[in-house]
Amino acid sequence: MRAANRWLIPVIMAGGLFGQQPTNWTAGEDHQNMMDQLGIKALRPGPSGNESAPNHANYDEATANPFPVLPDALTLKNGKKVTTPAMWWNQRRPEIVEDFEREVLGRVPKNVPKVTWTVTNTVTAMIGSRPVIGKQLVGHVDNSSYPLISVEIQMTLVTPADATGPVPVMMMFGGGGLPGVAPANGKAPPAPAPGADPPATQQLIAHGWGYASINPGSIQADNGAGLTKAIVGLVNKGQPRKPDDWGSLRAWAWGAARGLDYLEADKAVDAKKVGIEGVSRYGKAALVTMAFDTRFAVVLVGSSGEGGAKLHRRNWGEAVENLTGSGEYHWMAGTFMKYGAAEATFGSKNAGDLPVDAHELIALCAPRPTFISYGVPEKGDAKWLDHQGSYMAAVAAGPVFRLLGAKDLGTSDDYNKEKMPAVNVSMLDGQLAWRQHDGGHTDGPNWKYFIPWADKFLKRP
Ligand code: GCU
Repeated sequence: MRAANRWLIPVIMAGGLFGQQPTNWTAGEDHQNMMDQLGIKALRPGPSGNESAPNHANYDEATANPFPVLPDALTLKNGKKVTTPAMWWNQRRPEIVEDFEREVLGRVPKNVPKVTWTVTNTVTAMIGSRPVIGKQLVGHVDNSSYPLISVEIQMTLVTPADATGPVPVMMMFGGGGLPGVAPANGKAPPAPAPGADPPATQQLIAHGWGYASINPGSIQADNGAGLTKAIVGLVNKGQPRKPDDWGSLRAWAWGAARGLDYLEADKAVDAKKVGIEGVSRYGKAALVTMAFDTRFAVVLVGSSGEGGAKLHRRNWGEAVENLTGSGEYHWMAGTFMKYGAAEATFGSKNAGDLPVDAHELIALCAPRPTFISYGVPEKGDAKWLDHQGSYMAAVAAGPVFRLLGAKDLGTSDDYNKEKMPAVNVSMLDGQLAWRQHDGGHTDGPNWKYFIPWADKFLKRP
């Protein structure tokens, strides 16, 4: 045996030059490992989304509020009332951030590696009647600490070619390709239904905005098996999460923030006017992005439901127990599982034990313009999402917007009493805005309201 091989073989046997291969568990195995780390013996099963199942979710308003008192967004942990913006920024906001990081969404690790962006393709095309420039971007994450995992964030940026200065940009969670370039899967995007609004991308370009499309799957997988891979796995060198490590929502939000780093360096973009948008699980991600990175100027939160704008404390539709099961726990920090525990070394906990709730996630966005959007169950925006519970959260976030000099929904602060407005009634007078359109599980029909509302609050001519 040659000298070099005598040295290499033991190294490979001990796990290779760069450490062990990433753990390759199923979501079920990873989920069980987190239960073990937390001392949880049994979780309560989540209710079913199927209304004819015997264990279906509650849809009776009479029993929907088992925990009618929310943690007060404007009371410090020491009991003192928050009466000035300075108290909010220096004391209360950091308390809420810490609670969300430790108990709900997890922390972005301190040693998360640097991202370097490259433009890999530039095209010109027409969107509607306007010429645009499209750039394909790749954000390479430095993986020298663990080369067995590589993370390449995919984003496209499209801006009007005839703009006379930097333009505002909406970043959207999705996998949108370059305009005029055949998508990799060979499928053309679906044509809008007759009578439907033009696609959001076309509406934005027509109003002088640009848009960026960031691919969440290129940041972190949408499943528990992926938690030892992609960005979460890279930082942990392929090992499973600790309880307060980040979940996919926080990882997607981190990726969006790195996308904003790129936009700050691109002269076509007015980086002080970059918004974030997503629907459903990506609606949750959009809200998390806006809440944690104050550089984002505006958000469109589409049909986000449980884990997004919906109150965890509501007993209506999707519940905390659905998010703690093995199909969705990866969105959250491991610690969040405690709140679904039926039997554990610490006893049991439920939604009422959470130190924070969704109204405080919305409050972290204040005073920046925050538009909460839903559709209707008849068209597929399921009752499961809890529209009323999301409205209550928005009402309860109102006092924080007002303290910071912004306008809220303009209702009373009594979130237990306020009922959401009728379908298609816009509540867009303030920086905190609400609209339930008459379409399905999409924010498509709300873009034509969102764009002028955002223009007004971002002070665009
Ligand atoms: C499921 C899940 C929701 C989620 C939705 C989606 O319905 O329960 O929490 O928002 O999927 O992302 O489409």
